[in-house]
Amino acid sequence: MPHSVHPIDRMLLQNKAWAFERVQSDPSFFKRLSSTQKPEVLWIGCSDSRVPANEITNTGPGEIFVHRNVANLVRPGDVNSSSVLEYAIGMVKVRSVVVVGHRGCGGIRASMASFDGLPATLADWLGSIREVYAKNAAELDALPEGDARENALLGHVVRTQVENLAKMDVVKRHWAERQAPSLHGMVYSTADGRLVELCRVLPSATAPVAAAS
Ligand code: CO
Repeated sequence: MPHSVHPIDRMLLQNKAWAFERVQSDPSFFKRLSSTQKPEVLWIGCSDSRVPANEITNTGPGEIFVHRNVANLVRPGDVNSSSVLEYAIGMVKVRSVVVVGHRGCGGIRASMASFDGLPATLADWLGSIREVYAKNAAELDALPEGDARENALLGHVVRTQVENLAKMDVVKRHWAERQAPSLHGMVYSTADGRLVELCRVLPSATAPVAAAS
């Protein structure tokens, strides 16, 4: 019997059980959540199924605003992540933005392999990881192939996304207006479930307000 259950049917059934249990333990749960959302954190993570934002931070619905894509990239000119940032920083007014990379990331790994046969959109997306590699090639090439090199690249990729964030107009505008959000780069280890902070950029009140670069 379990083999014949379609994954989507199982998902709908699990959802029914979850909603029922939530109301059992907290009757006003959905009423409270429906009225407003005031998360303090915007999470930019990888689409990887092993890195669920709420679960690994022990948070629930309403606590984290989430954007996920392949290899947790914040690319200048990407309408998707840009609109998430405008909304989360400008309207929801989150206090912090975290970019979360993870060990064993398929996107990082694929960027280091041949792009032959890779769909063009994916090659384009992963191309920006290659640019990060190229900028740090001297250091990365000197490392042994495998985990050491991959983890070092991952660190550089995460830091680069935080640097990209710091250059965005919406970030600079809100730094000047309300001294937020703080920016954080983190790496999650699928081996032990731990999240480690790599870098932190605090709002600089002196940042030029409208210096579009
Ligand atoms: Co990944």
